[in-house]
Amino acid sequence: MASVPIASEIEVLDVRHFSARQLRPLLEREADAWRDRLRWDYSSSTELLLQYLESRILTGFVALDRGRVCGYTFCVYEGTKAVIGDAFAAGHRTMSDADATRSLLVPMLEMLRHTPGVDRVEAQLLLFNAGEFADLFAGPEFTLYPRLFLECDLGGHDPTKLRDALAADAVATDLSGVGPELALSLWTPVDYQTAAELVHACYVGHADAQINDQYRSLHGSLRFLHNIVRFPGCGVFEPGFSWMLRERRSGVLAGMVLCSRVGEKVAHITQLCVAQAYRGRGLGRALLERSARSLLGAGFEAITLTVTEGNLQAVRLYKRFGFTLRHRFDAMVLEPQFKRR
Ligand SMILES: CC(C)(COP(=O)(O)OP(=O)(O)OC[C@H]1O[C@@H](n2cnc3c(N)ncnc32)[C@H](O)[C@@H]1OP(=O)(O)O)[C@@H](O)C(=O)NCCC(=O)NCCS
Repeated sequence: MASVPIASEIEVLDVRHFSARQLRPLLEREADAWRDRLRWDYSSSTELLLQYLESRILTGFVALDRGRVCGYTFCVYEGTKAVIGDAFAAGHRTMSDADATRSLLVPMLEMLRHTPGVDRVEAQLLLFNAGEFADLFAGPEFTLYPRLFLECDLGGHDPTKLRDALAADAVATDLSGVGPELALSLWTPVDYQTAAELVHACYVGHADAQINDQYRSLHGSLRFLHNIVRFPGCGVFEPGFSWMLRERRSGVLAGMVLCSRVGEKVAHITQLCVAQAYRGRGLGRALLERSARSLLGAGFEAITLTVTEGNLQAVRLYKRFGFTLRHRFDAMVLEPQFKRR
């Protein structure tokens, strides 16, 4: 009987059997995919990840195709939560990249289900299309949230208007049209605490707090900010393009926009939020504009961001501003009750 290539041609082993040197070619291939698909320079994340892999401190799996590394996945633990940090496969001789990735996600989910103390799993697999793994994440214990990767081409976003505004605004620190009682200033590390309080308050009852439970507490929001500012997972933080909006008199923080560099000329907005009491006055748009102007002035060509598809207010704001859809992917959550089933 003729032999048929089957999925068992893939071998899945514990990631700790592998050195950084063995995994480097795959991770470099992944960095190429991030650059091509999302205009994202993943190289600093790759280097950090390789350090962790070399230290054997990550939990995860590697896929082998006849002894050759063709995929990997890992997770990190934050208290009782596990975050699947990545899952990527490329170059298997007979399986599609998605199927090879699937063969890694299956044991990862299985392991996390049976890991004592883990009561929640989160994952956002940005390189895959929404719905790609819907069958794996089916069932009442899973929730999938489609998310959008949006892009704003600064060159195409009414550049004349933006450039004029930039020239007129070179030294201004207030926002014309939204009231003289508000003032803009750039992010400084002194802002951590008030910024975390704003993030926490802005996401009460919000879908994004279902996707990322850090938003649900002040401590978690502070941790989220530290991750954005100090680590390269979401790009390299750019304090020079991250703006805080305050009441002049009281100093109360009304909103903020945080920005990272993800490519030589590409910025990524990692956070935009406006306190409830100040919404619907154009401040979200004004913060976006201020950031876009400063980025344009510094030679950036594009801004990207991710937004939950169901966050209709934010999606509308971004689309009206000039953002367009580049990619649609899924955020996945395994809810706490899954252990009781
Ligand atoms: C999304 C968010 C930042 C928008 O902030 P905002 O300041 O309310 O945004 P804007 O005021 O610029 O725009 C919102 C609406 O106000 C309208 N608006 C703008 N200027 C206005 C003005 N001067 N007077 C009245 N309405 C105005 C806009 O047209 C828009 O209306 P629309 O939704 O019908 O199009 C805010 O809702 C928020 O912080 N949400 C929680 C966090 C979040 O989801 N962040 C985005 C994550 S990707």
